[in-house]
Amino acid sequence: MDREVFQEQFGLLGTSQEMRHVIDKIMQVAKTDISVLLQGESGVGKDVTARAIHALSERKRNNLIIVNCGAIPEGIIESELFGHEKGAFTGANESREGYFEKANGGTIFLDEIGDTPKNVQVKLLRVLENGEFFRVGSSKVQTTDVRVIAATNLDLWKLVEDGSFREDLYYRLDTVQIHLPPLRDRQEDIVPIFRKFVQEFSARYDSVFKGFSDDARELLISYRWPGNIRELRNVAEQLVVLEKSQFIDVERLQKYLKGRQHQGSADNLPMLPNGEGQQSNTQNEFDRRDRELVYRALVELRTDISDVKKMLANFMYSTMPGKDVKALPPAMRSDVGNSGVSEMGINLNEHALLGMQEMPKPTHETVSEVHESEESAIIKFFGGDEIPSIEATEQFLIKQALEKYDGNRRKASETLGISERTLYRKLDQYGLA
Ligand SMILES: Nc1ncnc2c1ncn2[C@@H]1O[C@H](COP(=O)(O)OP(=O)(O)O)[C@@H](O)[C@H]1O
Ligand SMILES: [Mg+2]
Repeated sequence: MDREVFQEQFGLLGTSQEMRHVIDKIMQVAKTDISVLLQGESGVGKDVTARAIHALSERKRNNLIIVNCGAIPEGIIESELFGHEKGAFTGANESREGYFEKANGGTIFLDEIGDTPKNVQVKLLRVLENGEFFRVGSSKVQTTDVRVIAATNLDLWKLVEDGSFREDLYYRLDTVQIHLPPLRDRQEDIVPIFRKFVQEFSARYDSVFKGFSDDARELLISYRWPGNIRELRNVAEQLVVLEKSQFIDVERLQKYLKGRQHQGSADNLPMLPNGEGQQSNTQNEFDRRDRELVYRALVELRTDISDVKKMLANFMYSTMPGKDVKALPPAMRSDVGNSGVSEMGINLNEHALLGMQEMPKPTHETVSEVHESEESAIIKFFGGDEIPSIEATEQFLIKQALEKYDGNRRKASETLGISERTLYRKLDQYGLA
């Protein structure tokens, strides 16, 4: 297949040297079973590339499974990838196959691989090395035959240096790396690709595009395109639809260029981190049952965490000499004396029903405040540099409280800020009864 045919077939446009190089590399590796690591900003064509590689491979008749590792909550990513057995956790009413099983014989595309939690990275390494994995809740080795394509818009090597990405997994994925350059680094591609998009949308919307003034055209080229081709495509569509039959001058064009970027701006932030069109197919594949499972796992996780937080806050408060709420980290103050039911469930419920598009996220400022103060308080409290697990913390606090009140459960639960029933449940759960 030559380059032009490939580009026509897969819609990967551009004739710059960078693009030609990328396309030649895609065509070279597609037929093999080699793992491929796609690197590039949001909107440069990583998804399109992964699909093209699969479609050109010997595996094209089997599944291409697309997994957005950054969009799956940490608590369930392992069971999503590797499946689980019936009863592996609350809500696991049936055994279910994971994405690696579904991809057997085909290709798995691990998008946003840099966001994979570390405990899952080690399992990924194993399945990539010899095709072996375990379903959650099972000790039976399973095998699968998959070709792996991974993608990231982060600098993976930097993550390795920071310690958040395993070096061995990095090398395993890095067999062939394809770097998709940002649009601003291949400016000669901008106008021709834009033209193609305009043709496509004009036909679709039965609209006429009148063209650009010279300086509007210059702006189109010099603009930094933080959202890359995805953004270029959106702009083309908007112009065709909303500026129907208008001649496009700079002012008109500027309205459609996202953010405040203007000509020559140094602002290089990607503008569409979770933009439309980037929503992973994985999410669409969640059926109702999956969602329910996810929802339950999340509610449970969040309830447990907020229980522990409350207990810790109440315990610290009750052991403080002056009993001054203000001496507690700000994030814990509201938990003192608060033994109400966790409100998290309600939020989560809504989000789960919305199809997991958005997890409740605290604002930027609260994130750092909460994390720093809580973490340092907990570390100080336990006096070590290793943070204990939630379970260990819970057990420790429960034992301390019971000791303090000579086994009086009512008083202990009061101190911990949980209901007596919850305390009983936890004593039972930890075998402390
Ligand atoms: N080289 C290209 N030529 C034409 N369209 C492209 C090209 N690269 C990407 N696109 C289009 O841009 C949008 C974003 O591409 P996508 O592959 O989802 O980017 P990424 O996964 O890197 O964020 C899609 O609509 C895609 O069809
Ligand atoms: Mg993508």
